[in-house]
Amino acid sequence: MSNAIESVLVENRVFPPPEAAVKSARISGMAAYQAMCNEAEKDFEGFWARLARDNVVWTKPFTKTLNESNAPFYKWFEDGELNASANCLDKHIGTPVENKTAIVFEADDGAVTQVTYKELLARVSQFANALKAQGIKKGDRVIVYMPMTIEGVVAMQACARIGATHSVVFGGFSAKSLQERIIDAGAVAVITANFQMRGGKELGLKSIVDEALAMGGCDTIKNVLVYMRTPTTCNMVAGRDKTFTEVLQGQSTECKPEPVNAEHPLFILYTSGSTGKPKGVQHSTGGYLLWANLTMQWTFDIKPQDVFWCTADIGWITGHTYVAYGPLAAGATEVIFEGVPTYPHAGRFWQMIEKHKVTVFYTAPTAIRSLIKAAETDEKVHPKNWNLTSLRILGTVGEPINPEAWMWYHRNVGGEKCPIVDTFWQTETGGHMITPLPGATPTVPGSCTLPLPGIMAAIVDEQGHDMPNGSGGMLVVKRPWPSMIRTIWGDPERFKKSYFPEEMGGKLYLAGDGAVRDAQRGYFRITGRIDDVLNVSGHRLGTMEIESALVSKTDLVAEAAVVGRPDDLTGEAVCAFVVLKRPRPTGDEAKKIADELRAWVGKEIGPIAKPKDIRFGDNLPKTRSGKIMRRLLRSIAKGDAITQDTSTLENPAILEQLAQKS
Ligand code: PRX
Repeated sequence: MSNAIESVLVENRVFPPPEAAVKSARISGMAAYQAMCNEAEKDFEGFWARLARDNVVWTKPFTKTLNESNAPFYKWFEDGELNASANCLDKHIGTPVENKTAIVFEADDGAVTQVTYKELLARVSQFANALKAQGIKKGDRVIVYMPMTIEGVVAMQACARIGATHSVVFGGFSAKSLQERIIDAGAVAVITANFQMRGGKELGLKSIVDEALAMGGCDTIKNVLVYMRTPTTCNMVAGRDKTFTEVLQGQSTECKPEPVNAEHPLFILYTSGSTGKPKGVQHSTGGYLLWANLTMQWTFDIKPQDVFWCTADIGWITGHTYVAYGPLAAGATEVIFEGVPTYPHAGRFWQMIEKHKVTVFYTAPTAIRSLIKAAETDEKVHPKNWNLTSLRILGTVGEPINPEAWMWYHRNVGGEKCPIVDTFWQTETGGHMITPLPGATPTVPGSCTLPLPGIMAAIVDEQGHDMPNGSGGMLVVKRPWPSMIRTIWGDPERFKKSYFPEEMGGKLYLAGDGAVRDAQRGYFRITGRIDDVLNVSGHRLGTMEIESALVSKTDLVAEAAVVGRPDDLTGEAVCAFVVLKRPRPTGDEAKKIADELRAWVGKEIGPIAKPKDIRFGDNLPKTRSGKIMRRLLRSIAKGDAITQDTSTLENPAILEQLAQKS
């Protein structure tokens, strides 16, 4: 057994859910959870049909629940029709929710704006009319490249309202990444802002859109709609670019939502995979929305009086499901934050929890770890300086949380009274998969515990056979679920190969993560990716993508291999081994070239992909058939002694050279 698996299996601290949480929770106690799991086991389709009827407003009710005839291209509720925006906004009109605050927006500089559900509906409708006036229609793809703002959510909801498929690109991605996504999606418009404000700085967004469009291949783009986030002017191309004010002028604040089929693609979201090309994960409307709404109720036990704050950016799946759709579908009040957790000081999150009386707080382990570090070096930013007693549930997502960080979160943020929901899920799953329920599941630090009812998660070996508890293996899901990925946009073959490999029978959804269940409770722990995907600060990065970026610097780089290594703060760090087209540099020259390559990767992909370590070699460790031995590189990156068999290595001497830090 590997050390990592062994160490997670010995964790024996167990935290039963607080009595108050059990009493008030929607799923109250383990017996209630088990009963729901049993219902799903006994009558799988009946279970999902019941939930979909109770939790989604259908303009045309569905009569078929699941169609498996073309598996793994599953269809859910396929003859039903609905509109996602109507399910988030219109359904609250005429109920007590209509005048409730939907969004509390806190800007980078601390300024706060609020909108009620009624006002948000009017804004979304008006923007939807503006999109239609530009000729954007049902089925068109629209890129959203926006900062965290109410307008970002309005843009997504407005697309959904008219049946356009949005593809949000995180504001930290480069012009090149943006261009690739525009081309792959065949998008007709880009919705963006002149600038974004982060940490007191004004950062250009429109300038990056201009750069992307100038790279060519983006002829499908007819419109660029620009939200003027700051008073600073930006370049505007006549005929193509228009400000929000211009397009909203004269548009009605009423817009009938366009009914779409349950399987209609609500959005495409690009994520990293095992090859150099990001995958356009395509999600449905009906199944996705059902799960966004339900998991708000189950995992976060959301109640009318709750103030929910998910810190994720709308550029990631967490920001789709738990900022743009889930909280609104559930009728919650949510906080949206424009800035960064460390500006103007590293107590900003705690200050905001106090200020907005946040009750359910959802963030990433990386953020927690960096704030622990900040609090340890500066008492003034320790959570104890703020009143956090409004909190009742804490959540984490995106990467494994180490038990120490879990305990700190539990003690210092949750005051030892808030259940922590460690939610395991992925861009592809649409919503939570394996997570504690706050009023039912006893929690164990570092474990995402048990699958939600209806989610048939399991751990198997390479042939797809079940592994006994206590033995590590590959995480799979044995049955489809409503919010699952439908396909990879434009590449159904890659979808099949990536997620439903034939070698495992073609029926199991392969998550791409390693996992192990403990013997006592059957609790799951995620041990990390088993493919060429890295998780840096909860952001997914493909090693091949970074390698492609490095070797595209053709004047300098001959060959590159990228691996991950553990990092205390960011979970994993990117480590690149590079062979140059010139003699191997050392000392200051090596540092200079490493900086140049980092900047290059930042420009090619985005700053999040910049390698932390870059090492230069005369060559890379290869087998006689020329295959790069990445497992050796992983050991070197970690600083471990090489214990693996190196007899198949063509050039063993290279290992010593690569082990030296430049
Ligand atoms: O490796 C797992 C890790 O994040 C991956 C999915 O990344 P992404 O699609 O960007 O979505 C992140 C937000 C849902 C997974 O394959 N991961 C996510 N949540 C957890 C996790 N690893 C351990 N524990 C988690 N709670």
